[in-house]
Amino acid sequence: MKRFPAHILIFSISLWFHNAEIMAQQNKIDKQIDDLLQRMTLEEKVGQMNQYNGFWDATGPAPQGGNAAVKYEHLKKGWVGAMLNVTGTEEVRKLQKLVVEESRLGIPLLFGYDVIHGYKTLAPIPLAEAASWDMEAIENSARIAAIEASSVGLNWTFAPMVDISRDPRWGRVMEGGGEDTYLGGQIAKARVKGFQGEDLSAPNTIAACAKHFAAYGFAEAGKEYNTVDIGTSTLFNTVLPTFKAAVDADVKSVMNGFNILNGIPVTGDAFLQREVLKEKWALQGLVVSDWASIAELVPHGFAEDMKHAAELGAKAGSDMEMESGSYVAHLVSNVKEGKVKESLIDDAVRRILRVKFELGLFDDPYKYCDSAREKEKLYHPDHKEAVLEMAKKSIVLLKNENNILPLAKNQGKIAVIGELADDTNSPLGSWRLGSDNNTAVSFLEGLKAYSQDFKYAPGPKVFNKDANFLQEVEVNATDTSGMEEAVALAKESDVVLMVLGEHGFQSGEARSRTNLNLPGLQLDLLKAVHEVNPNIVLIVMNGRPLTITWEAENVPAILETWQLGTQTGNAIAEVLFGDYNPSGKLPMTFPRSVGQIPIYYNHFNTGRPNLEPNVFWSHYSDEQNTPLFPFGYGLSYTQFEYSDLEIDSSDQSAIKVNVTVKNSGSVAGEEVVQLYIRDKVASVTRPVKELKGFKKILLEAGDSQKIAFTLTDAELGFFDHNYEFVVEPGMFEVMIGTNSQDVLRQSFEKR
Ligand code: BGC
Repeated sequence: MKRFPAHILIFSISLWFHNAEIMAQQNKIDKQIDDLLQRMTLEEKVGQMNQYNGFWDATGPAPQGGNAAVKYEHLKKGWVGAMLNVTGTEEVRKLQKLVVEESRLGIPLLFGYDVIHGYKTLAPIPLAEAASWDMEAIENSARIAAIEASSVGLNWTFAPMVDISRDPRWGRVMEGGGEDTYLGGQIAKARVKGFQGEDLSAPNTIAACAKHFAAYGFAEAGKEYNTVDIGTSTLFNTVLPTFKAAVDADVKSVMNGFNILNGIPVTGDAFLQREVLKEKWALQGLVVSDWASIAELVPHGFAEDMKHAAELGAKAGSDMEMESGSYVAHLVSNVKEGKVKESLIDDAVRRILRVKFELGLFDDPYKYCDSAREKEKLYHPDHKEAVLEMAKKSIVLLKNENNILPLAKNQGKIAVIGELADDTNSPLGSWRLGSDNNTAVSFLEGLKAYSQDFKYAPGPKVFNKDANFLQEVEVNATDTSGMEEAVALAKESDVVLMVLGEHGFQSGEARSRTNLNLPGLQLDLLKAVHEVNPNIVLIVMNGRPLTITWEAENVPAILETWQLGTQTGNAIAEVLFGDYNPSGKLPMTFPRSVGQIPIYYNHFNTGRPNLEPNVFWSHYSDEQNTPLFPFGYGLSYTQFEYSDLEIDSSDQSAIKVNVTVKNSGSVAGEEVVQLYIRDKVASVTRPVKELKGFKKILLEAGDSQKIAFTLTDAELGFFDHNYEFVVEPGMFEVMIGTNSQDVLRQSFEKR
């Protein structure tokens, strides 16, 4: 008889017990849901499907008259299943108590909030975190966000945003994981795990929400809330897999979106929400609409009026309606008139109740309302430490001619130029509703720890600095005051650190741009400084890829620092002075010009990839085809050499790929080894390159390491037009390298 080693046996037995325990717990919850559902009136069921925004001071007297009073009455009747934008243990406790003690069945509320990159202590914006390619760090960052958010009474975050986007004109790229489906899927899993932890019923874990289902990031021309029209291959192979990854990681909710997709508003799309998400992928959690997206079925020209919108939303599978109130007003009559089956309502309510049971809210509705914990956890020193690590990992070194970086600690005279250098607000980025203004360590503050010997000139005013989440940022493009002073300072300095970029609220929701240049007079300032002193390090702060083409051609060193959150200045200073060796890699392509957009590495070959000098090939007459900086790109203070790419395809179910990476420079450094494939011939054309694996490694100077990857059918297959996952035999090319452009190549045959 075959003997299993003892440790495998013990592991299998404990896994069996663990699974049996989970099953028992699920059965118990199912029974509790059945019991509760039986006791609920139709009005109470529909009430669970209603989510209100809380905009009054809940700890004050009960609201009288107006919208707030109506909401208050609905809460007391048990006609509200969840709130959003109510935070603080005191406020949450007050509303929870109202519902638990005064409504007939006392079903506790969910409290949702946009905890996108931290609550008080802010990590870098999600796009920046994606540049770390460090899944452990990203998971930890979400964990910290959950610890702080749960300490203020919240039990549900509307994150992660897993929308793939190839269009940096769209302001919400700052909120996602970039342009790539594989990287995005890994990030989705890490972030869901971080928010939800090992045990959702623990008081410091919260339910996550993958959004916006689906294809919101493909808004035409990058214009917010705009039309999306994409084919099935792009939908199945590019857009949906990040959501599937989140569902596989047991995400407790999914949010739909504002966009139409191929003519149908996604909020009213039963194919997406019922067939794909709930049936095919077996999502156990709930689907929440986006803010008023059910009401928006009317202006979309999809529903006649609010009653019709409620009917269509419920039928399509929007289990909970955020804010627009059409469910609570019309779903009961829709059911009574036979327009919506009560079984659909029951299914929605089950999903909502399940999340509440899993969070443990029925055992203790106030478990997130511990004011001592609230005090202890917000801005906890450990959190500040962790977001500093995350911020350093997110920085990407884009250019470093003649190794101008890192700066020596006794560097001569340093000039710092640019309004953003002295900004404690903008580097916090967008989507930071719970945080406090002006809590970032500014660039200047960070620099002070390394050098006292610098002078600062802000240059011309760039933004109305106090712009907030609800306002458009105003940009100064005419007033040149401050220019002369900055140029004079540059002239007398040895090195110029120019901190330029976007305002924190120039990206995020409803922040689409048609120009992706440095806003205002910043490029003029840079050019003027360059004329008197070209020894410049450009530190870019931004929420999206920018067309920094002149900058890349003329400035010797460029650090991409995004918006790095609370620890911005400290993180940048450590990198500038070489106490941290940058290892970030771009999660999105940087275009040379806006006209190239959408530009992304995993494009198709076309029938005319290059026929030069013949003019009839796929190209522009006035611009190159290549990007300014490709996907996956990022330098280090050391160099890495790739060699010996070998493929062993003898086991066709697990193809082995090896490559040797050597740190050939003089300092230790981290490298993200990237593996791409190309399926050379397929029944549905495949892209010229697709990321299918990566490993982040640390190598001491002079050391080499053999890196091994395994390719299985999961990496080699694709979805055909019937949404069937197929793996087709034939030749595959494997490419491994330091970014998506500079790669070694080898082929193998899949039989
Ligand atoms: C956004 C969502 C967000 C919701 C609640 C909407 O405008 O699209 O992503 O979760 O507001 O704040």
